[in-house]
Amino acid sequence: MKSFKDKSIIITGAAMGLGLATAKYLAAKQASLTLVDYNKEGLDTAIEEIKTDYPSVNIVAVAADVSKEENVKKYVAKAKEAFGKIDGFYNNAGIEGRQADMVDYDLEVFKKVIDINLMGVYYGLRYVLPEMVEHGGRIVNVASVGGIRGVLNQTPYVASKHAVAGMTKNAALEYGKHNIFTNAIAPGAILTPMVEEAFKQVNPEDPKAAEAEYSKRNPTRRLGKPEEVASLVAYLLSDDCNYVNGQVIAIDGGESNMYGNA
Ligand SMILES: NC(=O)c1ccc[n+]([C@@H]2O[C@H](COP(=O)([O-])OP(=O)(O)OC[C@H]3O[C@@H](n4cnc5c(N)ncnc54)[C@H](O)[C@@H]3O)[C@@H](O)[C@H]2O)c1
Repeated sequence: MKSFKDKSIIITGAAMGLGLATAKYLAAKQASLTLVDYNKEGLDTAIEEIKTDYPSVNIVAVAADVSKEENVKKYVAKAKEAFGKIDGFYNNAGIEGRQADMVDYDLEVFKKVIDINLMGVYYGLRYVLPEMVEHGGRIVNVASVGGIRGVLNQTPYVASKHAVAGMTKNAALEYGKHNIFTNAIAPGAILTPMVEEAFKQVNPEDPKAAEAEYSKRNPTRRLGKPEEVASLVAYLLSDDCNYVNGQVIAIDGGESNMYGNA
């Protein structure tokens, strides 16, 4: 893969999980990074970690909530101010919400999931796309297997992630002519703090048992690793990614192809 030297990349949700793993992966390839998260302390700690491993990396940290339009304008402006342009955008921040039957789902949580996962991704596209029109760019939105399949007890999450898949296709159609390629990834269960929290909800007494039970269903008999997702994202953000546009790419060990029990 070509180096990311002189490439300016924005990553949202960079304080932990998939965002942090990709930040580290791209730091190793000399990208200039604008790292965004609403958890300011977590972001500061993450940046210390990255700087320890890659002292020469250029990083701008922006404490911002992606569900707030003004905050999104702010992180886009900071990236431009620091690096003069935006080449790549990992539109990753998202939350899972709670696990509940759709009829009983708490409406406040429902709206919050939509605000962050759907509106947050949309605001990102709305303000990053115009910055890429002149010179082209690469965008990776984060959907989920829940963006291509139903997932029991996660109605707002599934609704928001299907919307991410839809917006990805539209961005690809409308902006492909500007050499902007927009794709989405659809991760299955990848072992991040978000998924650890989900296993706690499934089995509060023994989350590790819930994880082991879940892994049995996967063709690979294991969960995915954040670094495995990072290498796919890096490809999709790189100049090697040409003519792949508007795709929703599952990274789930093949699990979403399965019908019935393994
Ligand atoms: N981990 C998985 O198995 C998995 C599977 C499918 C999809 N995803 C998606 O991948 C993305 C990252 O998930 P993760 O597992 O790394 O989660 P995570 O909870 O480990 O990390 C998410 C990060 O995003 C930040 N964040 C959340 N809401 C934000 C907001 N409104 N503004 C700014 N920052 C915000 C959090 O502070 C956190 O640092 C999410 O969109 C998630 O839906 C994850």
